[in-house]
Amino acid sequence: MTMRRWPLAALLCCLVLPAWAGPPAGSPPPGLAPERMAAYARSHMVAAANPLAAAAGRTILQAGGSAVDAAIAVQMVLTLVEPQSSGIGGGAFLLHWSAAGRELRTYDGRETAPAAAGPNLFLGADGRPLRFMDAVVGGLSVGVPGAVRMLEAAHRAHGRLPWADLFQPAIALARDGFAISPRLAATLQDDAALRADPAAGPYFYQPDGSPKPAGTLLANPALAATLQAIATGGADALHTGPIAQDIVAAVAGAARPGSMTLADLVGYRPQVRDAVCVPYRLWRVCGMGPPSSGGVAIAQVLGMVERHDLTAAGPASPDAWHLLLEASRLAFADRDRYVADPDRVPLPPGLLDRRYLADRGGLIRTGESLGRATAGEPPGKRADFAPDRSLEIPATSHMVIVDRDGNAVSMTTTIEGPFGSKLMVRGFLLNNELTDFSFVPEADGRPVANRVEGGKRPRSSMSPTMVFDRDGRLVMALGSPGGARIIGYTLKALVAMLDWDLDPQRAVSLPNLLNRNGPTELEMTPGAGPLADGLRRLGHEVQPMTAPSGLQAIRLLPGGGLVGGADPRREGVAVGD
Ligand code: GLY
Repeated sequence: MTMRRWPLAALLCCLVLPAWAGPPAGSPPPGLAPERMAAYARSHMVAAANPLAAAAGRTILQAGGSAVDAAIAVQMVLTLVEPQSSGIGGGAFLLHWSAAGRELRTYDGRETAPAAAGPNLFLGADGRPLRFMDAVVGGLSVGVPGAVRMLEAAHRAHGRLPWADLFQPAIALARDGFAISPRLAATLQDDAALRADPAAGPYFYQPDGSPKPAGTLLANPALAATLQAIATGGADALHTGPIAQDIVAAVAGAARPGSMTLADLVGYRPQVRDAVCVPYRLWRVCGMGPPSSGGVAIAQVLGMVERHDLTAAGPASPDAWHLLLEASRLAFADRDRYVADPDRVPLPPGLLDRRYLADRGGLIRTGESLGRATAGEPPGKRADFAPDRSLEIPATSHMVIVDRDGNAVSMTTTIEGPFGSKLMVRGFLLNNELTDFSFVPEADGRPVANRVEGGKRPRSSMSPTMVFDRDGRLVMALGSPGGARIIGYTLKALVAMLDWDLDPQRAVSLPNLLNRNGPTELEMTPGAGPLADGLRRLGHEVQPMTAPSGLQAIRLLPGGGLVGGADPRREGVAVGD
């Protein structure tokens, strides 16, 4: 496999260390056998979407860096080596666990709409919504980036090594070159808009227009200079001055221009928000609150299924999955109606009310699917919204990091679709996050909560998650890319680890099965037939799912030590010492 072309250090880091102690207690995953053993480490670990990025994080941890220090190094390398998924031109949500302070903090580095953007941003002259890809490509979709400002805030609070040091692995790789990975090469196929960008075209494509193949050594001196500027000048180097001016010019000069100004970039502020936490059996599960819908949706599903015993049935049981899928339908119905930027649209406080979730869970029929679910009437609801049907296309990246002191990061990071808006500025890509807003501002005479407004953050599905035991100790952290499917992917791995006692590798490898309040989407592995048949008998419309998850998960063992898993569907690895 082409990974042979990758540097030796990157390969060595992927060789998994002593195996997970003992076989997992749960049933083996039906169909998709894990391609690798779970990784084990005594002191620290990083699980990320690319071996070079994971190696950079590991180097920082080996040097005594904190989990946040390592996350910054990983993000900067991902900007270079996984440019289709995330980067300094995008946004992120970060959960941070401070072991000494026993404090969970959630950082919101979500992009914002420019101040001048309004509800009709994605409506054409005829008042109809633009075609999705017409909205994606160009300046209209670009949100004010938030990832670097957010990482800077997290570093001020939790960093140990100097900020500038964290950029050195990425700067060296950008300067000297990295081997294009098979996944990046595959994503470059058939992307005419990216090829047409004057900076991205010659960088990613050969003179004859074909994509540079996997294994090609790719240097990015423009990104090396940008990262050096941020290393020296902090996030100000991105949000003010010449780089910011170039961002504004690229957005304004695109075929479909956006309205972003220097004032928008200067004014961007990351937020520290309350985590969304729910009790679930022996644990407390915490995630990211709005503007992400991920934490709320996962919390709702867990609240609805808690009364059922999923353990006895196991991961091959259509009945167990039916409960999860039906709860997911109900959660998506609420999500589509109520969840948006909380600074503009307050979340109904009753959405996680135990009685409300018990009532919603009571709608689930054990022998038959509900079909399409409608939103509930949660206590404290303040306004009546129309459902949002916005598309989210699967890109994004997830990392999980635990440092030697037990501090942890679970961070999902994104530029939205593959290669974002397809606009490359100074070696990095600008996001298309604004297409996570509803294109339609109102329906049936009611506003959509997630409509575009100036300065507002688009609703996300990103679901960085952490789980704590009864004594408040961190027991695992996980998350995934994948657009709106992120919620189902993360839920699958969570239930697999908590209810089915699978180790992190088996949990992430387990075939994906989810419902977004429509057809049930099932990954068609060789063992999937009986599960699909069982679900059809329960009334599910089962559709094959081809979109890959990109889960990463780390479990902290009670006696010390870390076990990690990385999704075999992408190029991620879990490495540690
Ligand atoms: N752009 C993917 C998400 O925020 O869910």
